[in-house]
Amino acid sequence: MPEYGKADYWDERYKSNDTTFDWFVAFEPLRDVLQSLAKPDYKILVIGCGNSRLSPQLYESGYQNVVNIDISEVVVNQMRARYKELDRMEWLKMDVMKLEFPDNHFDLVIDKGTVDSLLCGGNSFHNVYMMNKNVSRVMKRGARYVVVTYGQPDTRIDHYRRKRLHFEVEHRTIDKPVFSSDASPTSNYHVYVMTKTEDSHAEEDAEDEDEEDDDFYDKFQANIAN
Ligand SMILES: C[S@@+](CC[C@H](N)C(=O)[O-])C[C@H]1O[C@@H](n2cnc3c(N)ncnc32)[C@H](O)[C@@H]1O
Repeated sequence: MPEYGKADYWDERYKSNDTTFDWFVAFEPLRDVLQSLAKPDYKILVIGCGNSRLSPQLYESGYQNVVNIDISEVVVNQMRARYKELDRMEWLKMDVMKLEFPDNHFDLVIDKGTVDSLLCGGNSFHNVYMMNKNVSRVMKRGARYVVVTYGQPDTRIDHYRRKRLHFEVEHRTIDKPVFSSDASPTSNYHVYVMTKTEDSHAEEDAEDEDEEDDDFYDKFQANIAN
């Protein structure tokens, strides 16, 4: 299996293919859900943006306060050059497990396909937890985190329900486009909408930085076994 969790894999892939490509779906099937959650002045963070057209299309729809991050410097440079006329939009090389933004900063965070990449790499549950802890930290209280994935609830929802994340979780589905290239046999993609219920407190978070003392792994294994 390709090393979807590694920067080198993505750098090579983007170097050999300087174009745009959307995993799962582009903007249009997500328009209603995103418009129902976001106001035009919202600060939006797109994690693992890749060379998706989602952010430029958000921009064209009036959401211009958008920061895009990706672990691949190659794709970040390509996207910055490709969309240089969208001057309120930022493109930054950054690891989603080490977000360099202040606490309680964004109104909306969007992930399309990045959790799926991390789950294909080594140490995946821990890495997804680090991603989600970072995302939660940079969200304002009441902000939303929208995740678009092929993963059904039994493989995803517990990752978002971990107690230190302070998320309320809602699950929706969207139809797959008729000509989807995804080989998975289901007819839907999944959208998880998390609402952050508490402010982040940097000192408390630092205290339990490496602690994962809930019973997440046990519960997850039990679910898989049943
Ligand atoms: C499956 S692609 C999805 C790209 C895009 N969001 C889309 O919907 O088409 C996953 C993206 O996540 C990025 N990525 C993987 N690990 C990452 C990490 N730790 N931090 C930030 N981005 C990461 C990859 O470089 C890649 O661009």
